[in-house]
Amino acid sequence: MDCVLKLDRLPEKKPFQEGIRRAPRRDSVLSEHDMEIALKNALRYIPERFHEELAPEFMEELKTRGRIYGYRFRPEGRLWGKPIDCYEGKCIEGKAFQVMIDNNLDFEVALYPYELVTYGETGQVCQNWMQYLLIKQYLRELTNTQTLVIESGHPLGVFRSHENAPRVILTNGLMVGLFDKPEEFNRAAAMGVANYGQMTAGGWMYIGPQGIVHGTFNTLLNAGRLKLGIPKDKDLAGRLFVSAGLGGMSGAQGKAAEIAGAAAIIAEVDYSRIETRYKQGWVSRVSDDLATCVAWAQEAQKAGTPLAIAYHGNVVDLLHYLIQNNIHVDLLSDQTSCHAVYEGGYCPVGISFAERTRLLAEDHEAFKAAVDASLKQHIAAIDELHRRGTYFFDYGNSFLKAVYDAGVKSICRNGENEKDGFVYPSYVEDILGPQLFDYGYGPFRWVCLSGKPEDLDKTDAAAMDCIDPTRRYQDRDNWVWVRDAKKNRMVVGTQARILYQDAMGRLKIALRFNEMVRNGEIGPVMLGRDHHDTGGTDSPFRETSNIKDGSNIMADMATQCFAGNAARGMSLIALHNGGGVGVGKSINGGFGMVLDGSERVDRILSSAMPWDTMGGVARRAWARNENAIETCLAYNRDNEGTDCITIPHLADDALVHATVLNALKD
Ligand SMILES: NC(=O)c1ccc[n+]([C@@H]2O[C@H](COP(=O)([O-])OP(=O)(O)OC[C@H]3O[C@@H](n4cnc5c(N)ncnc54)[C@H](O)[C@@H]3O)[C@@H](O)[C@H]2O)c1
Repeated sequence: MDCVLKLDRLPEKKPFQEGIRRAPRRDSVLSEHDMEIALKNALRYIPERFHEELAPEFMEELKTRGRIYGYRFRPEGRLWGKPIDCYEGKCIEGKAFQVMIDNNLDFEVALYPYELVTYGETGQVCQNWMQYLLIKQYLRELTNTQTLVIESGHPLGVFRSHENAPRVILTNGLMVGLFDKPEEFNRAAAMGVANYGQMTAGGWMYIGPQGIVHGTFNTLLNAGRLKLGIPKDKDLAGRLFVSAGLGGMSGAQGKAAEIAGAAAIIAEVDYSRIETRYKQGWVSRVSDDLATCVAWAQEAQKAGTPLAIAYHGNVVDLLHYLIQNNIHVDLLSDQTSCHAVYEGGYCPVGISFAERTRLLAEDHEAFKAAVDASLKQHIAAIDELHRRGTYFFDYGNSFLKAVYDAGVKSICRNGENEKDGFVYPSYVEDILGPQLFDYGYGPFRWVCLSGKPEDLDKTDAAAMDCIDPTRRYQDRDNWVWVRDAKKNRMVVGTQARILYQDAMGRLKIALRFNEMVRNGEIGPVMLGRDHHDTGGTDSPFRETSNIKDGSNIMADMATQCFAGNAARGMSLIALHNGGGVGVGKSINGGFGMVLDGSERVDRILSSAMPWDTMGGVARRAWARNENAIETCLAYNRDNEGTDCITIPHLADDALVHATVLNALKD
């Protein structure tokens, strides 16, 4: 096995294909010494005889793009997740991961494919194209008694392990606490030693925006049930949902709102994103005229028919218009990329998208000031709509944190700082946490590695068979989701499906699929999940925002989940810093499991799948979350003799309150 990138000659420089989105210049402050290190670091991948030619080219990339991507090493043409048999490899996992990586970089799927960004403004598969080539080289050679180690996109090497060990262990952007902040991260990324993996970008498990359509659909439906008093068997017909963002993940909002029956207006400043969603049928109408958008929405509400409208313009302008014209909004959110608010994720009101890109490159301080001013107007408009009866929720994009960082303290629950959360709930705090995560329902997913749509149809049908829709309303929602998934044209990229399931639901489906592979009914399958799940992510502003025992600032759960999945033999395991909310604000992890039809895989699934989810439910139960306690008690009953989850005793609130008061009096 070669331990350097095989390179007989330098690949030709190629032009960038017209019409493919490009990442803005990335920020970082590098000293002269840092720049020298950055250059030497990138040249580590390249034989010395090419250094003279490449050094100035890499330096130019660092100066103009803020990072060294090694563009000329990108393979020619379109990359896409091809059927697994098109890939070379010595083990099935080595081939399967290549499908997943290429899908994450597909022009049709990725946000900035040339910069290896899959979604979420900065979420990358790895840092540069040299790493991509080297990872691929190792995956072709990897055997089923070895493990490939990836640190922030860099393939550190292949080490001997055993058949039941993970084939790939990867981490992204993990930083020592003292340095765990955006400025230090940007410096490290510019020097080529840190990768922002987001969640499934660096974890190689992205399945296009379908992943988030299901989550958004669940969130909107349950927000309607909990906050608008809609009965459990009804949808959002006649209601108006307003939000911003039609990008990688946010692009799901229109589609999810339509599936949930609502009328929706989604603001988007970048026309190219609107075009993509319109062509896909994920928004049904487009206009840059506010009166037209509102008239369309009101018509749909009156008729009780679903309709997703893209407003080409800034969300702040949209909100001002709604306020001035007294339009009632039922549900309001935001999905601009506020986790990277000063890196281009949020476009300030008053300037166009093109001006935002120019200002970002030419005057970062002025850009920052414009973002802060815009966020202040944005939150003032939300406050006004809230006063008029709108339910606003933070949609996990660090919007409220960004508003706080812009200097608005009034949104803090304690009026001072973010420690006790914000006056508006995160969608996990109010909705997804108690209704789904506390039961273990989370974004389970699979990819049919054969690339055949008929395999996906068969797995959809098998998954439906595994669900009892009469058990709970969540099961009914999930059953309906998978029943209608094909009709809703969810596939972008590989033949993949997302399906929210609880721990034992996931196991049941996983075992059924592995049996189908064994019987030759379908080709091999890659199982996985979004990191945004019950047990995979510690994130006080998002996934763990409904943990109220003080442990929401701890990252033990995500780390244990990662280690436990490794111990049980998942094929790929990932642990990242940042995710959807930004550097230092979360630790998150995920897995990939290749179903090859073997009994060995059955055994791994039987222990790893329950652990992956129930570790999270157990922690939520220990935090005294009611639904999680109920779920763990049932799990303990059903798994006596093998598993046992610690259950908390519940202290009486009045007793605790009186005791503390008395003590403080002394
Ligand atoms: N809730 C979840 O489950 C979840 C999941 C994934 C991502 N996220 C978070 O949601 C955010 C969006 O993710 P994404 O992948 O869609 O990112 P993205 O960058 O692809 O899309 C954001 C979109 O917002 C648009 N935008 C920015 N400012 C705007 C403004 N003022 N008015 C109108 N449009 C504006 C941008 O042009 C862009 O198209 C990220 O912060 C991400 O971390 C949340």
